[in-house]
Amino acid sequence: MSDGGSTSEQASKIAEGLAYLTGFGNEHSSEAVPGALPHGRNSPQRSPLGLYAEQLSGSAFTEPRTHNRRSWLYRIRPSAAHPPFTRVDNGALRTAPFTETVPDPNRLRWNPLPDPAPGTDFLAGLWTLGGNGDATQRTGMAIHLYAANAPMTDRVFSDSDGELLIVPERGGLLLRTEFGLLSARPGEMALIPRGVRFRVEPLDADARGYVCENYGQPFELPNLGPIGANGLAAARDFRAPVAAYEDVERPTEVVNKFCGNLWSATYDHSPLDVVAWHGTHTPYVYDMRRFNVIGSISFDHPDPSIFTVLTSPSDTPGLAGVDFVVFAPRWLVGEDTFRPPYFHRNVMSEYMGLIEGAYDAKAEGFVPGGGSLHNMMSAHGPDRETFDRASAAELKPQKIDDGLAFMFETRWPVTATAQAAGAEHLQRGYDDVWQGLERHFRA
Ligand SMILES: [Fe+2]
Repeated sequence: MSDGGSTSEQASKIAEGLAYLTGFGNEHSSEAVPGALPHGRNSPQRSPLGLYAEQLSGSAFTEPRTHNRRSWLYRIRPSAAHPPFTRVDNGALRTAPFTETVPDPNRLRWNPLPDPAPGTDFLAGLWTLGGNGDATQRTGMAIHLYAANAPMTDRVFSDSDGELLIVPERGGLLLRTEFGLLSARPGEMALIPRGVRFRVEPLDADARGYVCENYGQPFELPNLGPIGANGLAAARDFRAPVAAYEDVERPTEVVNKFCGNLWSATYDHSPLDVVAWHGTHTPYVYDMRRFNVIGSISFDHPDPSIFTVLTSPSDTPGLAGVDFVVFAPRWLVGEDTFRPPYFHRNVMSEYMGLIEGAYDAKAEGFVPGGGSLHNMMSAHGPDRETFDRASAAELKPQKIDDGLAFMFETRWPVTATAQAAGAEHLQRGYDDVWQGLERHFRA
């Protein structure tokens, strides 16, 4: 395996042949070379095949089993074998606390990012829209977009500040990680846990999408309550990589995001040199089209929490630091019901993105690659055109299957970065979609 970047054709071919381990949060184990994984203990006096044993802790040692995440890595050289890290430019990446602008109660909506310059890789193409909390306190989240057209070559990235939930919108990604290789195309999501080194190669000429950087508790599957043992995202549909390693003795830059800044150190070898591993702190991918959508078969429709794929819990039960929610194809059958999402003011703050097609509450202006931000208590809901149409529609069973939208819903208001608040691709006049909602009241 080369440490250099693959062309998109090479990356696509590799992505097609990938094998995975299945299950969410499992105690997985994998070895790229038979016999590399020790058995019966984690840290033998001499690890098999002359490998170094190293633990990667994603939770405090003593957290309850339901939240405990850690993996043991068996690698050619320990991660500790590196020179000092030095600061490098943060580019368009920003980190909480977000203080460049004041929190804005207005409804905001953006068009897609402009195309990046040729030669922009995933890391260079990350652009922060905003967020909340404080990375040093491990609370809150950031919303980033990415636009890339080149592979990361001889450099890898790791994020000490949080886990990265990546949602491709245009073009797929090959993710080469310490745990092995994964691919994610539009309609799928990928998650890179806190601290895991990885690099990204586009599967197509260009790659664009969204990233939720979660500073808080790692995402987990929501509890199902009266829904029962099945439904929403199935644990078995989450896929972790099988071990794959790079035995490459060539300078490789490791860029680490730490408390908001990028730091760089050049290893004399690829740090993606893990030959075997076992544990629960692993990257994974999930195909959002596998989401088992549950809704009303009588009247009204449930709150959008019914569409939760993953949730990052906080110390208050039911109050997420951030939820990842997907609006997948589904049938609407409610009788005497206004079927699009209702008018709403919410203590939670909602960032929505669109992967393909259209969203049933917005007739126009909400485009793939763009996004909307409806902050705490801001009034939102269907636009005028959607309201008029849905209020008069004949209520036959109706399939919503022309789009795939998602939401990062968070307990704290999202403060935009200066670059997002002043962006040319910020839509001026978004409020207009709610103008002209006629008065129908008759006493
Ligand atoms: Fe809402």
